Amino acid sequence: MSDSAKLIIDGKEHLFPIVKGTQGERAIDITGLREQAGLITLDTSLGNTGSCLSRITYIDGEKGILLYRGYPIEELAEKSTFVETAYLLIHGELPAKDELSVFSNRLNESSLIHEDMRHFFVAFPKYAHPMGILATMVASLSTFYPVPDIMDPDAEEQFMANLISQVRTVAAFSYKKSIGEPTVYPSFKLRYVENFLNMMFSSPVKDYRQDPDIVRAVELFLILHADHEQNCSASTVRLVGSSLSNIYSVISAGISALWGPRHGGANQEVIHMLEHILATGADPKGFINRAKNKTSKERLMGFGHRVYKSFDPRAKILKQACHKLLNKPGVSNPLFDIALKIEELALKDEYFVERNLYPNVDFYSGLILKAVGIPYDMFTVLFAIGRVPGWLAQWREMVHTASFKIVRPRQVYIGQSKRHYEPIDKRISRKQG
Ligand code: CMC
Repeated sequence: MSDSAKLIIDGKEHLFPIVKGTQGERAIDITGLREQAGLITLDTSLGNTGSCLSRITYIDGEKGILLYRGYPIEELAEKSTFVETAYLLIHGELPAKDELSVFSNRLNESSLIHEDMRHFFVAFPKYAHPMGILATMVASLSTFYPVPDIMDPDAEEQFMANLISQVRTVAAFSYKKSIGEPTVYPSFKLRYVENFLNMMFSSPVKDYRQDPDIVRAVELFLILHADHEQNCSASTVRLVGSSLSNIYSVISAGISALWGPRHGGANQEVIHMLEHILATGADPKGFINRAKNKTSKERLMGFGHRVYKSFDPRAKILKQACHKLLNKPGVSNPLFDIALKIEELALKDEYFVERNLYPNVDFYSGLILKAVGIPYDMFTVLFAIGRVPGWLAQWREMVHTASFKIVRPRQVYIGQSKRHYEPIDKRISRKQG
């Protein structure tokens, strides 16, 4: 197989190196194209563009494979914890006992946010979406914990620990604000997930009883969401990080990208759909038909993926977890039953079959979160908490790459050619009516 690709432009041959990944994927390195041939490439929405070389996460969308640092997601989901997975993503290897203990202690010690920041929560309106609060508060953390322009390895570890730990605290505080209850501080005695659940669900008058099934379900949710290579939010993190913006602003940008319904916001939409069907007795086929209708702009939420053209492995794991958590012996869960029905109908429908549209991670994740007692508006926040280690790993890999430069795509301009300024009284109004 050739190690270079030949491109003939205006009769002239140009050779470009072919870069090979460890799993056999190949890419034409066109960084020299403009210099050699005066052309740029055009790939709107970057569906066929490799934006970096990465050692973090591997996806085979055709076969439904997802590996973090080489480890299959199925093994991590069964055997690992979120904190251990976070360490793996950031540092590249599973931690030894002492390494995990140092990492966990650092997370625990970093879990408080500056006390003055608690006043910020008071100023948000009661109906504020917690993703808006999270993005704002994470960017604000940079004003309380100034990030030096040049970080030594210890400072870098510390800021990453701050983010993994403080995001969880901010998330729980924003929930408490939304229900008008006092905030509950993190506790050194509790593990990562237990700490979060305690900050969410205990109050000065009521203890929270930890249920191991619930703790494990949240742990699983976070592990499955911890990274997904160069998706919209990870690419945002790399883009913003490439300007050497501070690490809090970088993660805040990732949170904003995640918020949209075509990305992390889909999990909330799925539950709305299932609840609507349950409450009104609507035929699930109606949702499927509307999603197929190109004039309606509606989509079947929780279905389809840019990379997976078969079952998203995370959806498979979550579906099994739903069976375990929701269908206790003799008890069925009506929302889960509706989800199963929709999946069955869609997977038999020609429209979905032709386009390889399968359930993605968001299709079943909301059911898990609902069972845990997480309110809808917090679903995408939970996704964000899970994704922070992945974003940090992507950011860290980028800033430590010797050849890294600010990201600056080009464009093909299709606007007006050069023209001259007209005085206002000579302009014709284009306003109708
Ligand atoms: N329902 C109906 N039609 C769909 C759907 C859907 N959920 N997803 C894709 N299509 C159609 C789309 O209309 C297009 O049809 P046509 O070729 O006739 O124009 C075709 O399938 C290809 O879709 P696309 O929009 O070109 O695919 P994409 O790679 O740009 O979009 C996606 C991927 C996830 C944004 C999209 O599938 C979608 O909007 N899904 C629903 C939202 C969702 O569940 N998002 C969560 C994604 S997974 C978690 C995450 O990464 O955040």
